[in-house]
Amino acid sequence: MYVCLCKNVTDHEIRRLVHSRGIHTVRQLRNETGATSQCGKCARCAHQVIKDELAELNGKTMAWTAPLCTP
Ligand code: FES
Repeated sequence: MYVCLCKNVTDHEIRRLVHSRGIHTVRQLRNETGATSQCGKCARCAHQVIKDELAELNGKTMAWTAPLCTP
């Protein structure tokens, strides 16, 4: 799913960057991809994706009761 439409950044790419580049903040994501740097509407969703992926990495599987987010 596209998280940032302005910069064409997907949740898959964000998750990959959390693993491969150690991204753990929206600021770092912005520096790497440009996501959140234009209209900013994706910031909340980007934060959620990063947070959820970090939780997965730490062994805390998220219980999905609602859609991840809708940009
Ligand atoms: S949707 Fe990400 S900056 Fe606009």
